[in-house]
Amino acid sequence: MKCDRNRELMPITLVLLIVLRFACATEPENNSAEETIIEDFFICRTCGNDVSLTNLAFDKYSPLALSATNHTFTEKRTILVQEVQNPRGIRSNIFLVRQANCAKVHPWSSKSTWFPGYAWKVCVCPKCHTLIGWMFEPIENATAEQNFPSDGGFYALIFQHIISEGYANSLLMKEKALRDN
Ligand SMILES: *[C@@H]1O[C@H](CO)[C@@H](O)[C@H](O)[C@H]1NC(C)=O
Ligand SMILES: *[C@@H]1O[C@H](CO)[C@@H](O)[C@H](O)[C@H]1NC(C)=O
Ligand SMILES: *[C@@H]1O[C@H](CO)[C@@H](O)[C@H](O)[C@H]1NC(C)=O
Repeated sequence: MKCDRNRELMPITLVLLIVLRFACATEPENNSAEETIIEDFFICRTCGNDVSLTNLAFDKYSPLALSATNHTFTEKRTILVQEVQNPRGIRSNIFLVRQANCAKVHPWSSKSTWFPGYAWKVCVCPKCHTLIGWMFEPIENATAEQNFPSDGGFYALIFQHIISEGYANSLLMKEKALRDN
């Protein structure tokens, strides 16, 4: 997956995925094209809005995590869930994804970050505005113009606020749809 363009377009990738999930099997696809199997969707527990894809999960240890466990999220996928604590003593269990669907919010902060070298801001569900996690961006690139994480950044989602849909595991889509954004 390659993406060099402005990261403001990132949520459009997810919108595309959502459109594709309802539009599957409408067009005969060229068999020679690369395909990505969507394993499952991560959705907002509060309102059911699409947040991300299980395919986009990855593991990166936070040196500040209080604990870390491998959690079996779906049949096929184990995800690292880490417990982190903010300066007010509020603890959250987080897991990481490369892309997610968050509302556009205020500037980056590099204070009290759980991932040294990365600035953060909150990720709220664009539909119901529940806090669903945080966005992280390398400090050097965390400018006011950078609304969402770039290729060098990522998203931490709150385990208790997200569920996997457990439904779309046979859906196929062109990897091209991701590349083109
Ligand atoms: C499908 O792929 C083949 C081989 O790469 C190509 O020759 C053909 O033009 C493609 N067809 C369509 C409809 O894109
Ligand atoms: C999670 O699983 C991976 C791969 O099996 C392993 O390398 C890692 O040490 C595990 N981490 C924890 C916290 O159990
Ligand atoms: C910051 O952005 C520049 C330009 O897109 C890129 O070359 C560089 O690798 C980025 N830095 C990090 C730490 O991701």
